Amino acid sequence: MIVLGIETSCDETSAAVVRDGSAILSNVVASQAALHDRYGGVVPELASRRHVETLVPVLREALEKAGVGASDLDGVAVTNGPGLIGALLVGVSFAKAFAWVRGLPLVGVNHLEGHLTAIRLERETVVSPHVALLVSGGHTSLYRVDGFGEYAELGRTHDDAAGEAFDKVAKMLGLGYPGGAAIERLAAEGDPAAIRFPRPQRRSGDLSFSFSGLKTAVANHLAALGRSPTDREIREVCAGFQAAAIDVLVEKTARAARETGVREVLIAGGVAANGALRREMARVLAESGVRAVHPSPALCTDNAAMIAAAGSRRIARGERAGLDLNAYSRLPLGSPARASG
Ligand code: KG4
Ligand code: ZN
Repeated sequence: MIVLGIETSCDETSAAVVRDGSAILSNVVASQAALHDRYGGVVPELASRRHVETLVPVLREALEKAGVGASDLDGVAVTNGPGLIGALLVGVSFAKAFAWVRGLPLVGVNHLEGHLTAIRLERETVVSPHVALLVSGGHTSLYRVDGFGEYAELGRTHDDAAGEAFDKVAKMLGLGYPGGAAIERLAAEGDPAAIRFPRPQRRSGDLSFSFSGLKTAVANHLAALGRSPTDREIREVCAGFQAAAIDVLVEKTARAARETGVREVLIAGGVAANGALRREMARVLAESGVRAVHPSPALCTDNAAMIAAAGSRRIARGERAGLDLNAYSRLPLGSPARASG
């Protein structure tokens, strides 16, 4: 079964061709980062317009790279939430028209399920049940995953997502958007013990997160300097901030693994591309015999292959979306496709 995936939920325009839900034939990602950089964050209206301009060329490239024609496809999977509503609608409208013209089965895919399924493009089996830490620019949640499509949320952030905190701190330091990768690079050259930032919610005894206080602590630290930070101070802030964020993410994930008794933990979403987070997670979980797995960095950040991987499984189960398929800015994982939004 060859499935075309389409992803336009935020600032990446992506199309991918995936065989049997596991083999990537192509995965083309056109990032809009340069477009939004000067605003220090995604401007929704600009994102929608850029998706309109980019989607068809990206799709053509994906088919070309995969060496398939539209007539070789067996289905179309498109992200229909959560995300920026205007951006989502570009992908959903296109996918509906494309599937209708070609007479192909269509399914809407929850973006979060896409992130949690990306690992299946690289690893045949993921042990279930497992705990998944979904940590991206828009979400920070822990789930117990009992199998594909079966998710129980164990905890989530009360305020900012971890990736959002990385991006906001990067903005304060003038590192551009998105800033996660830049912070990781600079943190590697800074002393993580030089500045001790707070670890919000770390000892809360539950599985929830909070990152806005950490972000504010960084802002206060920079304001207290009363001048621009030196290069060395920037590296120290990056290292101190990243260490605090990782501490909380690892501590809560380890707690979730303990409470559920799972042997495997999946880290997914854009922030899972962070090497320091992966290493610390693997180290701490190994102490209790739990294994940490994660997709390779290119499959952690937004891409359409993960949407095709999840969509393939839904199509194989006989799921079909009608031409009334809609897009939803809020779409909880595990909710029926028609959640209100
Ligand atoms: O999953 P994703 O591409 O989009 C959302 O669904 O949100 O995640 C993007 C987020 C951004 O906040 C970005 O700064 C962060 O992932 N990110 C990183 C790294 N690479 C991307 N954060 C920390 N370290 C990284 N290496
Ligand atoms: Zn994402």
